[in-house]
Amino acid sequence: MRKALLAIFLLFSFNLYGAGAKIDIPKYDWSWKGFFGTYDRASAQRGLKVYREVCAGCHSMNYLSYRNLADLGFSEDHIKAIAAEHLVLDGPNDEGEMFERDGIPSDQFVNPYLNENAARAANNGAYPPDLSLIVKARPKGADYIKALLLGYVDPPENMKVPKGQHYNKFMAGNLIAMTSPLSDGLVDYDDGTESTMDQMTTDVTTFLAWAAEPSLEDRKRMGLKVILFLLVLFVLAYISKQQIWRNIKH
Ligand code: HEC
Repeated sequence: MRKALLAIFLLFSFNLYGAGAKIDIPKYDWSWKGFFGTYDRASAQRGLKVYREVCAGCHSMNYLSYRNLADLGFSEDHIKAIAAEHLVLDGPNDEGEMFERDGIPSDQFVNPYLNENAARAANNGAYPPDLSLIVKARPKGADYIKALLLGYVDPPENMKVPKGQHYNKFMAGNLIAMTSPLSDGLVDYDDGTESTMDQMTTDVTTFLAWAAEPSLEDRKRMGLKVILFLLVLFVLAYISKQQIWRNIKH
């Protein structure tokens, strides 16, 4: 018994001390939070632009196909045009050879690198993770992603940042192999929105949150229906009970 208690104690203390200094992630307002929240489509569309023009240089999004973008309000023609901007490796053809063709809506998002080794070779040995599920894959999800993108500050004076690493307030251990990918005005938004750091990080995070959980709105709608159904059922059950017991003396 004592050993078991000790083991449990150690388990928890490792958890506490192993994590290093605690990093407080700020909380941001997100359109999809709360019971009736939905993804801000305009923001997610701008976020796609940020992803395609900046992040897609290094990060894949394997679980997304171009046709999924219909959910963000893109028209079929627009999606065809977006897909066609990418070259897709297809095949083998009748001669057994792989060939390249223009992308079509049913293709998955095209990878920036042929394989993991190529990705590492281009990034000082670090691997840029696939971003399809990154919002689900990190504690504090969207808040963390936005904070991380805004978290590049000067390192404390006594700290030496190794070559190929960068100081980031919100990365675990404060060192990250990715340079700050964004800077004010980097992306030219089609809808005239000013592309400040704050705007771009909100937009790209909204897009990534949608990608990680496109069914969130359906889930909330279903939840609402279930609760309404239960309410009606409760009222019916209550009335029936009153009816059945009405003539019975207590
Ligand atoms: C020049 C290449 C490059 C670009 C462009 C880039 N990244 Fe990265 N990113 C990396 C690398 C390399 C890592 C791995 C860092 C590490 O493990 O230290 C990374 C890691 C990440 C992580 C994971 C951090 C963690 O907690 O492990 C996120 C999230 C991320 N990038 C988001 C983005 C977003 C969003 C963009 C576009 C705005 C972007 N990146 C653009 C190279 C890039």
